[in-house]
Amino acid sequence: MLPINLKGKRAFIAGIGDDQGYGFAIAKSLAEAGAEILIGTWTPLVKIFTTSWNAGKFDESRTLSNGELMQYSKLYALDAAFDKPEDVPQEIKENKRYAEASAYTISEVVAAVEKDFGKIDIVIHALANAPEVKKPLLETSRAGYLAALSSSSYSFVSLLSQFGRIMNEGGSALSLTYIASERTIPGYGGGMSSAKAALESDTRTLAWEAGRKWGVRVNVISAGPLRSRAARAIGSDTNKAVSFIDTMIDYSKANAPLKGKDLEAEEIGASAAFLSSSLASAISGVILYVDNGLHAMGIAVDSQAFAPEECTTECVAAK
Ligand SMILES: NC(=O)c1ccc[n+]([C@@H]2O[C@H](COP(=O)([O-])OP(=O)(O)OC[C@H]3O[C@@H](n4cnc5c(N)ncnc54)[C@H](O)[C@@H]3O)[C@@H](O)[C@H]2O)c1
Repeated sequence: MLPINLKGKRAFIAGIGDDQGYGFAIAKSLAEAGAEILIGTWTPLVKIFTTSWNAGKFDESRTLSNGELMQYSKLYALDAAFDKPEDVPQEIKENKRYAEASAYTISEVVAAVEKDFGKIDIVIHALANAPEVKKPLLETSRAGYLAALSSSSYSFVSLLSQFGRIMNEGGSALSLTYIASERTIPGYGGGMSSAKAALESDTRTLAWEAGRKWGVRVNVISAGPLRSRAARAIGSDTNKAVSFIDTMIDYSKANAPLKGKDLEAEEIGASAAFLSSSLASAISGVILYVDNGLHAMGIAVDSQAFAPEECTTECVAAK
C-alpha cells in the first residue's frame, strides 16, 4: 500500500464559504490524510459559515471515512483582495458585513497564523471573484478586469509571498484554475479567463522562485465544472434557460473521454492531497487536469456536424 500521509502537516485553505465547493472538498481530503486544517473564509461569509458549521448543517459533508467529523483548528476571516490594513477602503471598513471583523488582510492573517501555530506546510488557494463575470470580455470595464485579476490571481502571489516565510521546506502551494484560460469558453467573462491564464503562468514563475527561496513546490489543478456557489453565480447566457455551470457539466459529460461520468469534488480533493504530499515531492510548476479528460479534446463529439443529415438533435444526444 502506498498511502497519502499528511500526519504532522498543517494546511491553510483559503476560500471555504460552504460545503459545496472545491475548497471544502480539498480540506476534507487533507484531513482524511491526517493534516491539521486551518481555514480562511471570505470576511462577509464568516458568520453564516460558522453558524451553519456549529448548527451541524455541514455534518454529513464533514464525515470522514472513519466516521469522525472533519475538524479545523482555527478559522480566519480573510479578504484576499487586500494585502495590508491600509489597502482597505473606508466603505469596506464601514460595511456591516466587515464592521465586526478585524485583521482580515493577507499580511494580518499570515501574522496571526504565525503567532498561533508557528509554521505551516500546505497552502491551498481555492478562491476567485470577478464582479463582471457575466459580461463578455469586450464589455468588461478596466475596473472589473483588474478586480478579477486582483481577487483571483494576485491573491495567490500575495498569499505565497507572505506564507512562504513560515512554510516548512518541502511544503506545497496549490491553486485552482479552469480551462477557459487556454480555450475560449463563452460565458466565463469579466476577465476571469484572463485571471486564470495569469494564475497558470504565475504557477511556473512561482515554482521557480518559491522552490529556490523556501524549497516549496507550486502547482495548479485545472478542474472540470462543479456546481459550487461561485460557479452558480456566473448565471446563464441570456438566450438560455439553463445556467452556465449546468451547460458546462452537460457538455463535459457528453464530450469528455470518460463519457457520462460525473466529476466529483472529492476527485479534485484527492488530487490536491496527492500534490500536497511527499508522494509528489518532485512535482512543481505543473498544471494537473482533473476534468475527466475533457481538456484533451479538440472537437465536441456531440456536435450536429458529426450527425448524419437526417439526424435530429435528439438523435445526436442519443448517440
Ligand atoms: N466550480 C467550477 O466549476 C470550477 C472549475 C475550475 C476551477 N474552479 C476554481 O475553484 C476555486 C474554488 O471555487 P469553487 O467553484 O469551488 O467555488 P466556491 O464558491 O466554493 O469558492 C470560492 C470562494 O472564494 C471566496 N472568495 C471570493 N472572493 C474572495 C476574497 N476576496 N477573499 C477571500 N475569499 C474570497 C468565496 O467566498 C468562496 O468561498 C476557484 O478558484 C474557482 O475558480 C472552479
